[in-house]
Amino acid sequence: MTEQTSSDKAPKAQKINGVRGMNDLLPGDAAQWFHLEHVFRDLTRAYGYEFLRTPIVEATAVFQRGIGEVTDIVEKEMYSFEDRLNGEQLTLRPEGTAALVRAVIENNLLYEGPKRLWYSGPMFRHERPQRGRYRQFHQFGIEALGFAGPDIDAEIILMGQRLWDELGLKGVRLEINSLGQAPERAEHRAALVVYFEQHRDLLDEDSVRRLGTNPLRILDSKNPAMQELIEGAPKLLDFLGEESLKHFEGVQTLLKANNIPCKINPRLVRGLDYYNLTVFEWITEELGAQGTIAGGGRYDPLIERMGGKAATACGWAMGMERVLELMKVSGSLPEPQAQCDVFVLHQGGETLITALVVAERLRSAGIDVILFCPADGQTASFKSQMKKADASGASYAVIIGPDELAKNEAQLKDLRGTGNQQAIPLDGVVEGVIDAIVGATE
Ligand code: HAM
Repeated sequence: MTEQTSSDKAPKAQKINGVRGMNDLLPGDAAQWFHLEHVFRDLTRAYGYEFLRTPIVEATAVFQRGIGEVTDIVEKEMYSFEDRLNGEQLTLRPEGTAALVRAVIENNLLYEGPKRLWYSGPMFRHERPQRGRYRQFHQFGIEALGFAGPDIDAEIILMGQRLWDELGLKGVRLEINSLGQAPERAEHRAALVVYFEQHRDLLDEDSVRRLGTNPLRILDSKNPAMQELIEGAPKLLDFLGEESLKHFEGVQTLLKANNIPCKINPRLVRGLDYYNLTVFEWITEELGAQGTIAGGGRYDPLIERMGGKAATACGWAMGMERVLELMKVSGSLPEPQAQCDVFVLHQGGETLITALVVAERLRSAGIDVILFCPADGQTASFKSQMKKADASGASYAVIIGPDELAKNEAQLKDLRGTGNQQAIPLDGVVEGVIDAIVGATE
């Protein structure tokens, strides 16, 4: 055999990195996500919401039509591509609502009456990544379809408040506004155009363009140089008719009756074009620029606009990354959990075979087990195995060495409480561990 010199070696393969703004969920953080998912699922169950999952990819038209052509999302942020196998125009979903409405229409889900639905999953927007803003992020959302009254607007807001309370979030405030109905917005729009035309020299390039297409979006601008101008613009609330005001007041009365404080923000217009009447956002100052942890509102025009039979709807979605970040800041993240209940140690050979059988028996009894597995395929000293057992967070170690095997026994060691170690018969390991667990919890 010829010896390989370093010059014969193939060049070290270059590593390939993940896509900018798209993050891995690493094992150390997984428990936090599971916790959030768990609390959210319980919440949806408490309010009678059913789960609906749509694909990650939709026809581009779903979002163009649903969210609106003149929005940041559709104009600049969508991951759209042509499926080169069949020429279809597709988009990675930037949000869940338009896709859910597409699915509801396609599957005729409102046939039997109104529906309360929830969803979760990754969304994609080509934004400039920064803290709390990613290109792949994750949303939880709820949508209540077919309910017209302010009671459902209030219910979904109450759900949000309950969620923040259960997650232990601090410093979240609710801002709310009404976007009225299309004719009211048209009147407001005309007034906005007159106002912004008078101050055209103060508008940035984007806003000049939007003056002709969607002047309401100018109110959404984050450009600091335009804030004073925006502050002085005509307010949509002043253009609302009796019905719209009644709905808005109805929502506020119900929130007040449930002690939910909210601030009316006449500038809150949301970044998507499907809304009417109530819109709202939950905002925190703790996360810097990306402080909106959730937002939503009523979107009565959308179902018909997407080709369905006209039906009312409202909902909201939260950004999981932002909520988890706020939980961190609020000190309410759950304690890291143990990986298993029992860690099984052995010395290879016959002891490994027995250890494997014992581990399986324990699992059949509902006990979570990690069986020591040496990295090099050999074995390791009990001392180094014990370090791993400790690090796993297991409450008990079951030790099976050649001496134990010879006596048909195992050693059961309490790793967290007393530290006691005792011999137990091999065929009584499951009972021994259960007795120890029950004894420790009594
Ligand atoms: P949205 O305000 O675009 O609304 O997004 C909802 C939430 O998703 C935001 O409040 C934020 O927490 C999170 N989010 C948005 N973009 C990013 C990003 N680039 N990185 C991290 N988090 C982000 C909607 O998507 C509507 N579909 C909500 C809705 C449901 N309205 C009615 N029903």
